[in-house]
Amino acid sequence: MTDTPVDLTAGETGRVLRDVLGPLVAQGAIVRRPRATAWAERRQVDRTARRVLDGLRARYHGAPLVVRLGGRRMVLATRPEHVERILAGSPEPFTPASWEKRGALAHFQPDGVLVSPLAERAERRPYNEAVLDMSEPVHRDGDALVAVVERETSALVAAVEASGRLEWDAFAAAWWRLVRTVVLGRGARDDERLVALLDALRRDGNWSWFRPRRPWLRAALERRIAEHVAVAEPGTLAARGRDAGGADAVRRQIPHWLFAFDAAGAATFRALAVAAARPAVRDRLLTELTTSGRGPGVLPYARGCVLEAVRLWPTTLAILRDATEPVRWGARTFEAGTGFVVLSAYFHRDARRLPFADAFAPEAWLDGRADADWGLVPFSAGPVSCPGRNVVLLLASHTLARLAGPDLVVSRGRYLAEDPLPPTMDHMGLRFGLRTGTARHGIDASRAAAAAA
Ligand code: HEM
Repeated sequence: MTDTPVDLTAGETGRVLRDVLGPLVAQGAIVRRPRATAWAERRQVDRTARRVLDGLRARYHGAPLVVRLGGRRMVLATRPEHVERILAGSPEPFTPASWEKRGALAHFQPDGVLVSPLAERAERRPYNEAVLDMSEPVHRDGDALVAVVERETSALVAAVEASGRLEWDAFAAAWWRLVRTVVLGRGARDDERLVALLDALRRDGNWSWFRPRRPWLRAALERRIAEHVAVAEPGTLAARGRDAGGADAVRRQIPHWLFAFDAAGAATFRALAVAAARPAVRDRLLTELTTSGRGPGVLPYARGCVLEAVRLWPTTLAILRDATEPVRWGARTFEAGTGFVVLSAYFHRDARRLPFADAFAPEAWLDGRADADWGLVPFSAGPVSCPGRNVVLLLASHTLARLAGPDLVVSRGRYLAEDPLPPTMDHMGLRFGLRTGTARHGIDASRAAAAAA
């Protein structure tokens, strides 16, 4: 093994662009494009990407791979030691405010901590950690947050039982009602325009610097957020943030929080698909919920299922960093501004290292194996890791456990029932039907199959 990064040839660069980075950009890094995401699943693009990267890693003996894109140089990590160096060395000398991210996030959250200059980061990072209660599995406002989950999932379950089906659009609508309520309060629950504005700006963000800014749309989004923040009731993240740093401080971070909750919905929906395809997973989710009683208790197995969903199908497709100063790596020195890239899906499914690479293994998160591994970074790691991780896992685990109540059958069932799991999964294409009576044992599967088809 060598540690000095190697320059890829023009042909190899072309393959990395076509088979690794191209599909990632096509799907949309900031908001998924439904048609491109469906295409990515049909082509199982992550399988091809893995093959290309495995080949290059073997050919260059595990060295980091240097790709030139026009004037920009990007160094791709190929081993967990590289991931550790990059993430443990953030925000300096590896800043998360990379060139691509600054261009993308400026469309809707230029003051979010992720793209903040170091001086502002020094204030905004601890602020996010405090308001989101980063280190606590159950947020201080856990009672109020999980009460919202209970209300919204009860309504969704009732709708599923009435219609016999569940699709992404219905799930997403319910999920956003939940998210708006926990972030901004009851007054925001039905403010669909808020998410429409955010989504329009996120679509611009997919194009990073290559799409002109629409400051009037951003102003409209910020105005709406500010109105909700002003009246947000205790028990919401906005109220916590307002108390901790004032209305302006929290208003600046909220676009990121809302945007990031989209990923949590996708992960919950994917975990639900696995639970619907695997009776043993569903049974364990239901048993855990029943024994935990009411309220915001920790649901370790359900949390493990959500973590598995983001390990197997990461929602942050690439973790990007830029060097803030010249960086010495092996026998080479990279100038400030060089990009460093961790391709999450590649590391998360590395069959050479992980016995459970393509399996559904929530246990790996329960016994600490996964958390100790620098190759498994769905929420990133190190000083810039996701401060929302625990809030996400609290809300998503309770949502998942409650939605596991109805006996669902999923359209991708035969691919999900057993390992190995497919490398790429389009969450927006998942369809669920409701089994009736003893259908699980094959007696009345026709209605379920028709709804899920
Ligand atoms: C499944 C859901 C989520 C996943 C997988 C996730 C993952 C991540 C990852 C990988 C990063 C690092 C990004 C980078 O370095 O480029 C990050 C950063 C961040 N996340 Fe999350 N996140 C999720 C949801 C949330 C939510 C709901 C919130 C807020 C309520 C949140 C708050 C943040 C913040 C503030 C940062 C920036 C941290 C910093 O710059 O220091 N995340 N997240």
